[in-house]
Amino acid sequence: MAKSLMEVVGEDHVVIDPDVAASYGIDWSRRYTGTPSAVIRPADTAQVAGVLAVCRDFSLAVVPQGGNTGLVGGGVPVDGELILSLRRLSSITDVDQAGGQLTAGAGSTIADVCSAAAAVGWSYGIDLASRDSATAGGTIATNAGGLRVLRYGPTRSQVMGVEAVLGTGVTVSHLAGLTKDNTGYDLAGLLCGSEGTLGVVTAARLRLVPESPERVVALLAFSSVTAAVSASLEFRRTVPDLRSLELFFDDGLALVCDVFGLPRPFPKAYPLYLLVEMASQIDRLPELSEIIESTGAVDDVAVATDTARCDGLWQYRERHTEAINTVGTPHKLDVTLPWSHLVEFIETVPNVVRTANPHATTWLFGHTGDGNVHVNVTGVEPDDLNVDEHVMTLVAQLGGSISAEHGIGRAKRPWLHFNRSKEEIATFRAIKNALDPLGILNPNVLLPVH
Ligand code: MLT
Ligand code: ZN
Repeated sequence: MAKSLMEVVGEDHVVIDPDVAASYGIDWSRRYTGTPSAVIRPADTAQVAGVLAVCRDFSLAVVPQGGNTGLVGGGVPVDGELILSLRRLSSITDVDQAGGQLTAGAGSTIADVCSAAAAVGWSYGIDLASRDSATAGGTIATNAGGLRVLRYGPTRSQVMGVEAVLGTGVTVSHLAGLTKDNTGYDLAGLLCGSEGTLGVVTAARLRLVPESPERVVALLAFSSVTAAVSASLEFRRTVPDLRSLELFFDDGLALVCDVFGLPRPFPKAYPLYLLVEMASQIDRLPELSEIIESTGAVDDVAVATDTARCDGLWQYRERHTEAINTVGTPHKLDVTLPWSHLVEFIETVPNVVRTANPHATTWLFGHTGDGNVHVNVTGVEPDDLNVDEHVMTLVAQLGGSISAEHGIGRAKRPWLHFNRSKEEIATFRAIKNALDPLGILNPNVLLPVH
């Protein structure tokens, strides 16, 4: 089998040395680990097709992997699967300056896509803290969200078409990038969020968005969850060119400042904070100041317009993930709530976690602009599912989604039925059987065991 794989990608790109393969066996959550039987590193779509042909012949389970920044165990070989690393497919081609599109190889990072866009006067709609490692292919497989979803939508909204090798062995390619193209099933849309279970995306035609050079970032302090969530709703309706609307609490801020030696943003602590970013063609600061004033609920404000200070304010939010990792391996429970239950959820979830496990600590932050809360729980063993079960149950009771942007992976698999009916799951299985009839592609994620 190794010989057949080497014939496809070359000897150097079938990695069996356990020390080298180890870094492919753990994702950013650090909760899921595994030892791949080998890591295969193809160079192009034809080699991906060749690798999958060998996997089909030998019935080998294979986990496609990009930058390995996943947070639900969806790209980790927990059961000793082969890793199919797409990182070598990193070229960015066919940049269309006039039309605002480019074709990104699956292994190009989000930072690379952003740079290629900026080089021709455009911007990319997806931005996330893992931008230097997360790849175009990985963000498509997970339909990643990030910091600008309220303005530009998730990854699915950026993808005009894909090239992919399906589990059937067939290569499909639809990269013309026509804005209007109403010609049947949306295979790209289907592959977005399919978590490597149907096919391996090798390239994507991505739409770009206009640059918005005038940036205003404001960090706002609040005394209550109700005040912060009401302000969020108001800002979504009234703030022009709103690009991000993020929330975090004082315990998370204190941890970030402590771990990274950052100064606190205000002379005193407040219970919670919203970070608001506007990005526009014109200076929006006067309008933002007026809106903040009129809410009457903001206890303190720090504002930045130059890049260095904007980035400085963002650190307080973006560095939560790394800071929490220093406390322990978190259970990362990424959920969305309907607006009507967001306050109730935020106020209730720490008690629900404490009842499920008195040793647990809850950290809350997230993308309030999308109703998306990242519930991080430390002090719980990685394989203890009790806290997860209780939080997922609360989310379902309040009409929310058990996965807002990280996907289902291994982490949420037991609770997919909280959001998806029997009929929907049966339809998922029918799609899986049609596109991956031998069940070799990421067989242990997304779909419930039975
Ligand atoms: C974020 O919003 O920072 C990311 O989703 C990562 C995380 O949830 O830790
Ligand atoms: Zn997030």
